[in-house]
Amino acid sequence: MKPRVLVTRHVYPAAIPILQEHCVVDYQDRYEVMDEARLQKKLQLADGVVCQLTDPMTRAVIESAPNLRVISQIAVGHDNIDIAAATARNIVVTNTPDVLTEATADLTFALLLATARKLPTAERFLRDGKWQRWDVDLLCGGDVHGSTLGLVGLGRIGQAVARRAKGFSMRVLYASRNQAPRELEQELGVMRVPLDALLRESDFVSLHVPLNDDTRHLISIAQLCQMKRTAVLINTARGPIVDERALIAALEEGLLAGAGLDVFEDEPNVPGDLLALPNVVLLPHIGSAVTSVRSLMCAIAARDCAAFLSGEQPEHAVNPEVL
Ligand code: NAP
Ligand code: GLV
Repeated sequence: MKPRVLVTRHVYPAAIPILQEHCVVDYQDRYEVMDEARLQKKLQLADGVVCQLTDPMTRAVIESAPNLRVISQIAVGHDNIDIAAATARNIVVTNTPDVLTEATADLTFALLLATARKLPTAERFLRDGKWQRWDVDLLCGGDVHGSTLGLVGLGRIGQAVARRAKGFSMRVLYASRNQAPRELEQELGVMRVPLDALLRESDFVSLHVPLNDDTRHLISIAQLCQMKRTAVLINTARGPIVDERALIAALEEGLLAGAGLDVFEDEPNVPGDLLALPNVVLLPHIGSAVTSVRSLMCAIAARDCAAFLSGEQPEHAVNPEVL
């Protein structure tokens, strides 16, 4: 009998035939997000699930799925999945790293430039018919070229951002639990420093760590107070890495100059106080939103799910110890 796979939400079409070759597919081709109760119901007969970062793959959901053997996430981040609960039940979790690295680094740099040079404000100014003439101090922002960039996390995306920073002649610092190999540091032109020093010295602080118990509210009021008053915080990692209330207070008090955010603590809810601030650029979690990239992410998740259910090794296991 073919294994059964639940696809929780709309995906790029290429993913479905990949699954259908080996599995019976229950494809929920819609954009709504299932809550825990609905997921639990839909997973009763499933051997595998292809899910997204919006899906609450909690301990309760995982433990109530009697036949579940593989969870394939269409994203690199997997903080919506209780990995410990999956591992305890020998369920393999897969994700989609690498393929989205460059797209997310591009978006990070776009956000950095847009925030530093006030691009959304400037565009709104023009569209609103407010542009009367060229003025010497009209919509002036901060320097990007030659400034100091602090990367919190120097994994795949952090490294790709560092490569872009080289082209802008930026001095690049990084904070990470482990030191990168010397050759990589030299190639990227980066220097490892403690987080405190990075916050004190950087003109731009950009976050590239996964969300977990160690990184939740890694950037809170104490860290924001250490930043330069002229500095900008960029977050394309996960919202809860930053204490959003503290960030709003810091921006209101002028403790830092601005923020560029692609991710939020309670997506898709963005606090009104944040929306009211003029010195922030806000995006709806579009870091990897390039058609070819998203299509590949869907195909990779489907391939790993189908491969595992056909007795093969998946390419990207988050908890390889269960294999
Ligand atoms: P990665 O290659 O695993 O890199 C993460 C880095 O974070 C690792 O090098 C790790 O190095 C470091 N790290 C982990 N915990 C840390 C801590 N407590 N303090 C400092 N550094 C720490 O992951 P990636 O592919 O670059 O992706 C990073 C994250 O970006 C994902 O987890 C996801 O949440 C987010 N993301 C967002 C979007 C978007 O659409 N906005 C798109 C893609 C990814 P050490 O182990 O040496 O510390
Ligand atoms: C997107 O946020 C991802 O983690 O892939």
